[in-house]
Amino acid sequence: MAHPESQHPLQIAIVGFGAAAQAFVPALQNNAQFSLVAIVENNAQVQSNAKALGVPVFSQLEDLKQIAHLDGVYIATHTPCHAEQCIQALANGWHVLVEKPMSSNAAEALRMVSAAQQFGKSITVGHSHSFDAPIQAMRHIIQSGELGAVQMVNTWCFTDWVYRPRRAEELDPALGGGVTFRQGAHQIDILRALCGPKVQTVKAKVFNTDPKRNTPGAHAIYLDFENGAAATAIYNGYAGLSSMDWTQNVSEWGFLQTAEQRPWKRRPLQQSTPEQELASKQERAKTAIPGSAPLQPHFGLTVVSCTLGDMRQTPAGILIATADGERELKLPNHQSPRELVLEEIENVWRGSGPGWHDGQWGYENLRICEAAIASAQSGREQVMTA
Ligand SMILES: NC(=O)c1ccc[n+]([C@@H]2O[C@H](COP(=O)([O-])OP(=O)(O)OC[C@H]3O[C@@H](n4cnc5c(N)ncnc54)[C@H](O)[C@@H]3O)[C@@H](O)[C@H]2O)c1
Repeated sequence: MAHPESQHPLQIAIVGFGAAAQAFVPALQNNAQFSLVAIVENNAQVQSNAKALGVPVFSQLEDLKQIAHLDGVYIATHTPCHAEQCIQALANGWHVLVEKPMSSNAAEALRMVSAAQQFGKSITVGHSHSFDAPIQAMRHIIQSGELGAVQMVNTWCFTDWVYRPRRAEELDPALGGGVTFRQGAHQIDILRALCGPKVQTVKAKVFNTDPKRNTPGAHAIYLDFENGAAATAIYNGYAGLSSMDWTQNVSEWGFLQTAEQRPWKRRPLQQSTPEQELASKQERAKTAIPGSAPLQPHFGLTVVSCTLGDMRQTPAGILIATADGERELKLPNHQSPRELVLEEIENVWRGSGPGWHDGQWGYENLRICEAAIASAQSGREQVMTA
């Protein structure tokens, strides 16, 4: 919903200036409804990068009390920091946009949701890939009933996630690390956006294959939804095949990347010290997630089957196939997914409407990721109790 130009820009501070946060800066700078007023970052080297944005750079969340009229914070620190920082921000009277996964585990997420209720402020979880225009368009078509009832949604993503530079906690599932929490959070978000919010049961296998890189690196998850739909999420982060082979070479962020241009052909893991990994991670953060893109973003490939037809993403939008033939629906790409996140939080923070990526939504996504890991450990289907 657009707001009158006369409304004051919402004052926002970034907490943690790594890869995720740096990806948000172009969207923030292009949106007149927001004013970036401060950055909190506790690493001295990263602080000096952050200073280039010309706003105060603090080292602790509490320092933000020096900013008069702060509306909200965007928490993009490591996942294990999210819960405490979110609760602290809510208690200070600030709205919260928190990166996915919203915390290291569902119990922490529940505490965050309770704190939002207690302090009367909102939590939004994002960016996540259900903000991608093709996913939103497919959701809209499902909800319109044009293709009948949704029956199956299958999503596949094959990347080099395991071998990208990482901090130790990004690989540790006890701290919200590994592909099932970090990337499954996107896939579950997409599947619930398309199939409906309520999952009844979860069955999964999770694979930790490379002893030199001890982390859950691949999974196969099967979800049974309350409305009768079924969904699978397949993720393989071991740098073998690329799901760009099935998305007409379009990357996660909407760029054309042919097989020759992909930097991550299977290669032996280079033995790096934690300091070397951190340095490469900080370097990668500067360009890893571009601000705008010529094509639609693809978090792998998602195929939807409804009673009257199928849908999948294309580089320019979505393809709809029914017994009457196929048609492509072209979608605008003037707004990046992060610009759509800002649109949602603008409405929520101004009190003009609810956002569907709220704390409860993020909590359920995380609970399902946790159930997938529990199912893989026990070999049994997990029932999602209310
Ligand atoms: N939505 C997406 O597409 C996307 C992409 C990447 C990462 N993420 C998520 O974003 C979060 C951060 O991941 P990242 O890859 O950007 O990590 P990162 O390591 O690049 O960045 C985190 C930053 O937070 C800083 N930090 C840590 N503790 C802090 C504290 N207490 N106070 C202030 N600063 C602190 C670190 O120094 C670092 O610069 C994770 O939850 C991750 O899952 C989301």
